[in-house]
Amino acid sequence: MDFRSNKRPDDMVRITTPELANAFIDEAVEAIREQVADGQVLLALSGGVDSSVCAALLIKAIGSQLVCVHVNHGLMRKNESEQVVKVFRDELGANLVYVDATDRFLDLLAGVDEPETKRKIIGGEFINVFAEEARKLQGIEFLGQGTIYPDILESERGVKAHHNVGGLPEDLNFELVEPVKLLFKDEVREVGRALGLPDGMVDRQPFPGPGLGVRCLGAITRDRLEALREADAIVREEIDAAGLNIWQYFAIVPDMRATGVRDDKRAFEWPVIIRCVNTVDAMTAEVPELDWALLKKITDRIMGEVAGVCRVCYDLSPKPIGTIEWE
Ligand code: XMP
Repeated sequence: MDFRSNKRPDDMVRITTPELANAFIDEAVEAIREQVADGQVLLALSGGVDSSVCAALLIKAIGSQLVCVHVNHGLMRKNESEQVVKVFRDELGANLVYVDATDRFLDLLAGVDEPETKRKIIGGEFINVFAEEARKLQGIEFLGQGTIYPDILESERGVKAHHNVGGLPEDLNFELVEPVKLLFKDEVREVGRALGLPDGMVDRQPFPGPGLGVRCLGAITRDRLEALREADAIVREEIDAAGLNIWQYFAIVPDMRATGVRDDKRAFEWPVIIRCVNTVDAMTAEVPELDWALLKKITDRIMGEVAGVCRVCYDLSPKPIGTIEWE
């Protein structure tokens, strides 16, 4: 197998079973060892499917020659960073650097309400934090990346310039190690399962790089971000418990308040918007008809458990015209 090639061989069998996944893993482990020899590899581990599977493969191949850096930008979903540490450091024995950069990100984002500016700040600061950590480590020559085949195809077609850790400063000139580069997403998941990653990680729904930052609309404040994180956890918990097969489901908290009444007193609190979509490629999306009892249960839980929220709404907009994310 040649990870340096960008072309999936025509006769490459689609990985659909644990046996095929194990055969891929054996080959990939060998190829990684050949490329890296006794060198060290650095990897930005977000906890998303691609970087997690890439990390698990590298750990199997080269163990402590891999250094994972998990940057918590403060915009992760509830318990997400904790799970990354638990799975990779505690269970897989990874050499993991955990950086809590919450204050850095939230301080930079304070008062910024323009969505594209927020994205740029989050992306730029991510690179700053990662580059700082990389410079603290000596003698690393390789950068692991969870690039997958659709990323390659999209870059080639000019749809998006794909750089998982794009734009690293020039002094950080690593050779790339991209062991899942020729795989489609379903194959990456199959490989992740065969590597023993938990279902919650392997079947994770897509989550934007800027995280909850693009769902805490307008200028982010810590209290509203906390309300969003709690409401989002409830939405995901209840939809998971109902056993529904929905492509993406999450919560949004806009930067506005509505009047309510709580304990006989006037309340002036945020609304939570529930967003659920089904799609094949995220270019168009439909809104599933959720069971009324489920919507009521989610509503009751959010209003009862999340401080500062007095309303819950369900977004009925298909894409187009509404995009999946609100920002
Ligand atoms: P939209 O909102 O464009 O979203 O309909 C389509 C899909 O892309 C995800 N998304 C992002 N993913 N960085 C990402 O990594 C981003 O800035 C970003 N914005 C949107 C979104 O969650 C949906 O799955």
